Amino acid sequence: KKIKLIEVRSELGAGTRGASMGIDALRVACLDKGCDYFKRFNSISVPDLNYTLFDKDLFPNAHHIDSILSVHKNIANAVEQTLELDMFPLVLSGDHSNAHGTIAGIKAAYPDKTLGVIWIDAHADIHSPYTSPSGNVHGMPLAMALNLDNLERQINDPEPETIFFWNSLKKLAYPGPKMKPEHLVYVVVRDTEEPEDYLMEKHGIKNFTYAEFTQKGAARVAAEALERLRDCDIIYVSFDVDSLDSKFSKGTGTPVEVGLRVEEAQELNYHLLQDPRIVCYEMTEINPTLDTENTMAENAFDILETATDAILHREFNKTAIH
Ligand code: ARG
Ligand code: MN
Ligand code: MN
Ligand code: MN
Repeated sequence: KKIKLIEVRSELGAGTRGASMGIDALRVACLDKGCDYFKRFNSISVPDLNYTLFDKDLFPNAHHIDSILSVHKNIANAVEQTLELDMFPLVLSGDHSNAHGTIAGIKAAYPDKTLGVIWIDAHADIHSPYTSPSGNVHGMPLAMALNLDNLERQINDPEPETIFFWNSLKKLAYPGPKMKPEHLVYVVVRDTEEPEDYLMEKHGIKNFTYAEFTQKGAARVAAEALERLRDCDIIYVSFDVDSLDSKFSKGTGTPVEVGLRVEEAQELNYHLLQDPRIVCYEMTEINPTLDTENTMAENAFDILETATDAILHREFNKTAIH
């Protein structure tokens, strides 16, 4: 199986500018380490609009949601096409709202398969325009995928235009929910707001806390996460670099203390990606403008290499057996 890198520079969903440069920071980290990673894989760039659009923002409860819809359509097309060519889409993206475009593309390629998602992040990203404290859409991709408005915990009153784009996003590439809440597993989520806690509680969504992670170790957490998704045919892993402890993730928009060490993240990704049901992987939220050195991207690049090795190794095992 060939890996295809899909570069998505959009940072429209983030509250802090700069994550569109995350992919270039990864390329710099790669060059500085003297490796040929970006030469080894074909990559495509998904069109994005970014800075030309930051001047006009008509949607206080979901900033840039109009442009984000068109970006997600482009991501979904690229991911769907890559899967249909029987390649592994490895998505490098600006901000985490893009993950919904990825999920839409997976669902478009496999409309009849049951999709599971492993979300490695400090945040739950399950807000809607009705509940978001910031209006930043990178806090909303999972609610789009799950088709959840969470009106029980409504605190905002979005205007009709916002609701129009929100509903279009929820329907993108697939008419109903693209996944079920029981097929979502969080790892090291630790910075949530009350409306998110409500949904996690209501739907019994599992979060492997960092305390549980240190107690059980990466291999067992990976095994248990995959076991929880035993009814899923296909799985997507989404890695937000702020899952790392803020000591190792200075260059990200919303760093949070008490998270993964780089080695722990590598181990976790390595064990997860052994599972052949995993059809797509994403790394996101690297913002080099917040870093004095390129440490964030260097750490992220080490994790990316480990994840890539795991994908290639797993395919090698598979062909070796058959
Ligand atoms: N929950 C906060 C918000 O909605 C932070 C979200 C951060 N998300 C991220 N992908 N970094 O504003
Ligand atoms: Mn996130
Ligand atoms: Mn198709
Ligand atoms: Mn996050």
